[in-house]
Amino acid sequence: MHDLADVPRVLRTPAELRLQSERWRAAGLSVALVPTMGALHEGHRSLIVRARAECDRAVVSIFVNPTQFTSRTDLARYPRTLDADLALLASEGVEAVFVPDAGAMYGDGFTTSVRVGGPVTGTLEGAHRPGHFDGVALVVAKLLIAARADRAYFGEKDAQQCAVVRRLAEDLDTGTEIVVCPTVRDADGLALSSRNVHLSAPERAQALAIPEGLAAAARSLAAGERGGRVLAAAASTVIASAPDLVVEYVAVVDPDTFEPVERVTGRARILVAARIGATRLIDTLCLGAADPPTTAFIVGGTSTDPAEVASTGRSRTCSVPS
Ligand code: PAJ
Repeated sequence: MHDLADVPRVLRTPAELRLQSERWRAAGLSVALVPTMGALHEGHRSLIVRARAECDRAVVSIFVNPTQFTSRTDLARYPRTLDADLALLASEGVEAVFVPDAGAMYGDGFTTSVRVGGPVTGTLEGAHRPGHFDGVALVVAKLLIAARADRAYFGEKDAQQCAVVRRLAEDLDTGTEIVVCPTVRDADGLALSSRNVHLSAPERAQALAIPEGLAAAARSLAAGERGGRVLAAAASTVIASAPDLVVEYVAVVDPDTFEPVERVTGRARILVAARIGATRLIDTLCLGAADPPTTAFIVGGTSTDPAEVASTGRSRTCSVPS
């Protein structure tokens, strides 16, 4: 248990972050980085718990990064809950929090861009949100450079983002190991997301068709179906049963390249993006032979200990055939 009085040290500029990390490293301590945009929930907490379990010191970044938003309205209405976020970090014993403002990250005269190429940024999220991954790559590159972390923690829910970050970290020789953590879901299966606060109760009920659609595809695979398009159609049918869900894409792809998979014989991933009202939701599931973390699982209410979930990766409602 951590003392709530142990508030994290607040760092406001990349230089402060670098200095803090250098001090830890000079003392022989390993450093974890957990990048976030705040409005922290149990999904974020699972990353933080794992980061603290695996490294000597953890820094969480909270920055609503303007360069990765493709809509001004989306940026303006992105939830901001800094006080509650700091309380969560304190309760988890996080040593430092990096909370820069936009000027500290993108000062006067800023002109640098970072672009990861190939299908991993060209399809799905990349195609539907042009420029989004450029913004993610830029901010993650800056965070990795400043934090000099041994390990950085990301969620499988944003699987394409994970692939982009892995590529970036390898191509730029950042020396930071990218760790991907399982998706944390509400008891009814909806993947946790900071944007879920925008859902009305009826919208939220309809949004459940997304994880149900993914589960239908997994069942179809377990029943012997191998066709990528057929599996995607199995998910689409369920998702289309929710009248107000507007599907942007449902696709079965190679988990590394994000190219379409015609026949699922090894590793594959199904991904969905859909809008309901003004809220955009994404979700994903690993299909077929999988690397850990393999399955999505449920955290049901407050009785579930995220530390246990994070450390064991235990599946509660595993809908994915092994
Ligand atoms: P954000 O949406 O705040 O997410 C921060 C991290 O938490 C990401 O790695 C995301 O995949 C992970 N996460 C979100 N929901 C999760 C869930 N239900 N279960 C497990 N992990 C979950 O993703 C971003 O911020 C930004 O793009 C960022 C990487 C910080 C760059 O700005």
